[in-house]
Amino acid sequence: MATSYRDFIQKKPNLKYIFTGGKGGVGKTISAAAIALDFARKGKRVLLSSLNPVHSLSSLFDQNLPGGKVAKIEGLDGLWVCEIEITETVERYKKELKRKIDFFLKYADIPVKTETFVEIATTNPSFEESAQFDQMTTLMIEKQDEFDVMVFDTAAVANAVRLIGLSKLYDLWLSRMIESRKEALSLRMKLSFRKEKIKEEISKDPLMADLLKTKRRTDAAKKLLTDSEKTAFFFITLPLALPIAVVERFITMVSSFDIPVGGIIVNKVILEDIVEKETTTDYLRNAYNQQETHLNYIHENLGNLLRANISLFETEILGLKAVEEVADMITI
Ligand SMILES: Nc1ncnc2c1ncn2[C@@H]1O[C@H](COP(=O)(O)OP(=O)(O)OP(=O)(O)O)[C@@H](O)[C@H]1O
Ligand SMILES: [Mg+2]
Repeated sequence: MATSYRDFIQKKPNLKYIFTGGKGGVGKTISAAAIALDFARKGKRVLLSSLNPVHSLSSLFDQNLPGGKVAKIEGLDGLWVCEIEITETVERYKKELKRKIDFFLKYADIPVKTETFVEIATTNPSFEESAQFDQMTTLMIEKQDEFDVMVFDTAAVANAVRLIGLSKLYDLWLSRMIESRKEALSLRMKLSFRKEKIKEEISKDPLMADLLKTKRRTDAAKKLLTDSEKTAFFFITLPLALPIAVVERFITMVSSFDIPVGGIIVNKVILEDIVEKETTTDYLRNAYNQQETHLNYIHENLGNLLRANISLFETEILGLKAVEEVADMITI
């Protein structure tokens, strides 16, 4: 028998960082919200953050949320939400990048316009992803004393994996940058006649200081992200072939980054009693029959990771009450 979501949570009393991932539209947001709500109703202080560029928490909770800021959810004690906003971070990155490139070009004595370099670097989509990652790790680290649990609703699959994977790539890149910066600086030391002056400059080297600061932060985030007592990544799927395949791929990728897998939640499961109703449409009956094949596949191939099922609601899931119903299903 697989460990249920409830037992899994009980066995991990120090669980603090929870992620939901999966294909587009499978129910990542409602699952993240239900998980967060469940911790809040058990008396924990919870922060639910959405990394999705399309803001979805404000419509889910029917509350006007200020982008990029932590806001309290009305009607439930202990639940705060934050829709991560990257515009400001991206602008800050651009400014910092310009400053660094200016600094570098001045040293190298290369007369080129900095703007071109900044444009090239910042039109890359991974630039925005690293801004998201930056925001996420900032929350994880800076708010860790304020909240008992933080739930992150990640965006679509590839994005989320890259987001997590970035911590590893970032690390490699940073280590290399630091090494080459050290080499460049020591070369200047060797070549210079005014050693004292150079030594002083090195200790104030802004590139080195920035690199080391970023490295310290990513190291701290990586330590949290790979701690299986503190972190768990839940995959949401529908009982359909494509989202299941995405989850399988996702599990392999996430595991290769040493991110602890929390398990799988199957959403929009059609219940037998709905099919037995006379009013049920053929469409739903067919979907129910097809669902069996996929549920069997999950049991046979991913059974040990199955944590919970959420049944198909008759309407969209909106508002605290509906999220509470989902939370009841997950924690059964
Ligand atoms: N069990 C369910 N029964 C009925 N409707 C559901 C169920 N689960 C989710 N929905 C609806 O399906 C839509 C998608 O759900 P949700 O927003 O949680 O998915 P998502 O994975 O976060 O999507 P995205 O990839 O766009 O962020 C929403 O309109 C939601 O209300
Ligand atoms: Mg969503």
